[in-house]
Amino acid sequence: MTEERRAEPLSLPDIAAMKRDGRKIVMVTAYDAPSARLADEAGVDIVFVGDSAANNVLGYPDTTPISMDEMIMLARAARRTTQRAFFLVDMPLGAFQESDEGAVHHAIRFVKEAGAQGVKLEGGGPMVARARAIAAAGIPVMGHLGLTPQTATALGGYKAQGRTGANARQLYVDALALQRAGCFGIVLEAVPARVATHISDALAVPTIGIGAGPGCDGQVLVWHDLLGINDGPMPRFVKRYADVAGEVRRGLATFTAEVRDGTFPSTEHTYKISDEEFELFASETSSAVIAGDDWI
Ligand code: KIV
Repeated sequence: MTEERRAEPLSLPDIAAMKRDGRKIVMVTAYDAPSARLADEAGVDIVFVGDSAANNVLGYPDTTPISMDEMIMLARAARRTTQRAFFLVDMPLGAFQESDEGAVHHAIRFVKEAGAQGVKLEGGGPMVARARAIAAAGIPVMGHLGLTPQTATALGGYKAQGRTGANARQLYVDALALQRAGCFGIVLEAVPARVATHISDALAVPTIGIGAGPGCDGQVLVWHDLLGINDGPMPRFVKRYADVAGEVRRGLATFTAEVRDGTFPSTEHTYKISDEEFELFASETSSAVIAGDDWI
């Protein structure tokens, strides 16, 4: 029997080499064990437990309410089935904004309690110091610029960023600062493609785009969006590669109908007992026997 050989787990130098060699980096969110296993088996490079679990899995209206403990519970599940991909976890709102010490403390929790190989945090400006502190603690950190959903209110809503010269310049400055702070990569979200390409070309570390065009060094999409589990209105940058919601609806409608009309379960889904054993059972439990017995 030939033993199937698992590919070696991806390391940070592997990810850095992908940018150098011009090989695109594939990143996808996953928030549970089966999703992470499927992503890993599909060969994605980075399995990412995003705080978008808040709205995609936990039913919150946006990403702001999700807690460290909720993130850790989801990340632990996804970690158990991620074997080859680099395993990255998102720092939720409140886990890093207050202080460098708090940021390092929570990043360490993700490493120790959820097996994170790296963490991601949103924002430039004052958040660059947080990234630096985490990197200095020896934990790989990825930045996230452009549309940063945790601070969407301050940005005036879920809008593309970097659409004025001044705003694009600020993104550029923040990206270089995050790289200098030790980030091993930077997510660029909802940024004009030309701006994202310009920033990607200026950086030695890879950019991962979501709504930032093809010039980024990699791409990330949210599991529920790309697979059509979310089937409502989507941002323009989402491409649906499957219709899982449609399949689920079809499956559930058929199950409901078959239970109601008695088609399910059929013989093939049913366990058997021999006539002899059934007779024994029936004779010992007939109403006449039970009526005269005191074991009930
Ligand atoms: O939480 C998330 O899904 C993200 C991606 C948009 C990168 O941060």
